[in-house]
Amino acid sequence: MPSKIIRRNSKIHGQGVFATAPIKAGEEVVEYKGKLRTHAEVDDEYGGHDDGHTFLFILNDDYVIDANIGGNVARWINHGCSPNCKAYVIGNEDDDPRKDRVVIEALRDIAAGEELTYDYDIQVEGPISAEERKLWACRCGAPNCTGSMIHLARKGVKRRATA
Ligand SMILES: C[S@@+](CC[C@H](N)C(=O)[O-])C[C@H]1O[C@@H](n2cnc3c(N)ncnc32)[C@H](O)[C@@H]1O
Ligand SMILES: [Zn+2]
Repeated sequence: MPSKIIRRNSKIHGQGVFATAPIKAGEEVVEYKGKLRTHAEVDDEYGGHDDGHTFLFILNDDYVIDANIGGNVARWINHGCSPNCKAYVIGNEDDDPRKDRVVIEALRDIAAGEELTYDYDIQVEGPISAEERKLWACRCGAPNCTGSMIHLARKGVKRRATA
């Protein structure tokens, strides 16, 4: 099936991903691809220089998809507080964390020309400093924009500051 998306300049941030044709609610738009790496590997490589920019997607407790390596167009999709897409982690019959995949699906009908966004759902252990708030400021422009791409982790959920 031909791709219905393209990367180009975004008003939200840098490059974004836009629909080139109508996309139906529930349609799978693209898989988030990149190198499968452990949390320890990505922490070693990128930890300690948090600049509010990430091409990492937490796949599960064991693995992260590092779209800096072998990433596809999905890595350019920006965060939105009123998103038109959602990222789903798809499990597998073998229950093998290495085989989990991430697919981006449309939450509603999307018209050609619209920018695609999904909620990065970046959860951090509190408290969030003023500097972190600034680094992770959201510019999605939605009327309900929370002003931040990060939020405090829900009780019992351990996540790191990666998208
Ligand atoms: C996966 S990249 C998306 C592509 C990015 N626009 C670029 O050109 O590199 C994720 C990064 O884009 C930026 N970004 C994404 N959504 C944003 C938003 N709603 N507001 C501000 N910056 C955003 C943040 O720096 C985030 O870490
Ligand atoms: Zn926002």
